[in-house]
Amino acid sequence: MAREALERARRRTLALTDCLDDEELAAQHSRLMSPLVWDLAHIGNQEEIWLVRAAGGQDAIRPDLDPLYDAFQHPRAERPALPLLPPDPARRYLAAVRERALRVLDAAPFDPDSADPLLADGFVFGMLAQHEQQHDETMLATHQLRRGPAVLTAPRPTPAPADAADLPPETWIPAGPFSMGTDDEPWALDNERPAHRVDLPGFWLDTVPVSNRAYQAFIANGGYEEPRWWSTAGWAHRVQAGLHAPLFWRRAETPDAVEGGWLRRRFGVVEPVPLDEPVLHVCWYEADAYARWAGRRLPTEAEWEKAARHDPATGRSRRYPWGDADPTPELANLGQRHLQPSPVGSHPAGASPLGVRQLIGDVWEWTSSDFAPHPGFTAFPYKEYSEVFFGPDYKVLRGGAFGVDPVACRGTFRNWDYPIRRQIFCGFRTARDADPEERR
Ligand SMILES: [Fe+2]
Repeated sequence: MAREALERARRRTLALTDCLDDEELAAQHSRLMSPLVWDLAHIGNQEEIWLVRAAGGQDAIRPDLDPLYDAFQHPRAERPALPLLPPDPARRYLAAVRERALRVLDAAPFDPDSADPLLADGFVFGMLAQHEQQHDETMLATHQLRRGPAVLTAPRPTPAPADAADLPPETWIPAGPFSMGTDDEPWALDNERPAHRVDLPGFWLDTVPVSNRAYQAFIANGGYEEPRWWSTAGWAHRVQAGLHAPLFWRRAETPDAVEGGWLRRRFGVVEPVPLDEPVLHVCWYEADAYARWAGRRLPTEAEWEKAARHDPATGRSRRYPWGDADPTPELANLGQRHLQPSPVGSHPAGASPLGVRQLIGDVWEWTSSDFAPHPGFTAFPYKEYSEVFFGPDYKVLRGGAFGVDPVACRGTFRNWDYPIRRQIFCGFRTARDADPEERR
């Protein structure tokens, strides 16, 4: 499993970089992002540090590269000015590290009771596969920001199933305790641990993510012009950044010729915004304003996880909404098989026990919650993995998106970002408290 996860990540890394010439790989396509050639060698450097040196106990191959590719020493905006490895030497470095890492893997015990927690259940190999896939997702976001002709292609997702139009708009999640987080998911990261009991009142949750159609109604209703729908910080940001629609959208010059009147740029292709797709590339402030306009609110992170994992019949928490089995294309839109989310109402087989759809895959979902440690949190294997990010600066996103690999996505997986960020593959769904007569 570990070898397959590492090899799948590497195929994707190379596919995302082999399609561009050296100049494009070295360019910075947005100040928010690293040059792709930085990500490339950074992936190899982390693999050298954790698999070759820490797990394998071997000497360093290129210790001189450590400071260059240390994400904490150089903010993304500064990375183009660094003396980075050019693409071909970076590829050779990646291959040399991988060859040694696979030898370490072949000799690794994979003993769940290993005294070394890095090696127990092959954790460190899973950690590095997730790390590479998370950079691949970031590189995919760089592709989306990049200007120029399309270089990535993928088939469109299948249309929504026949029952999508008849789904109840919201689903009742009954009051009661559930188990949040995990103790037994072998490759779960430190911030997903430990499992702990959380008791929640009943609440209503959108059955599917908020669609482009619904979001266009918010725009058409003056949502971006009305401060009353926005938090104070959100309105200040809306004005200062000039927000008026999701990132990558523009109005069609002949609005009557385009259903909904909006176009978007998606990986180098301009196309009408599909009305039945989940809205994508909105920041937390926009999601929050939409929810208020709709008379609702964003769900808390605990509410999201309860809806995604709690099985009312057994009282236990599942790995995924559909159960404990690994994701398949039928269950969820993950793994960059498509370059866009599936239409709202898709993947009925992947629904939660209560019938909520698309909690996993399609779009990352903003929650109302700040990124905070679970009670009993212990940093592992180093503080910079999660702990330094805890606090009110970051909001939690859950569920993964079409560009997230299954190895880096599960019912407990937590993502976090600044509330102004929109270049990530983020959307949302809304919730509301029960009316007094609905409390049960
Ligand atoms: Fe990294």
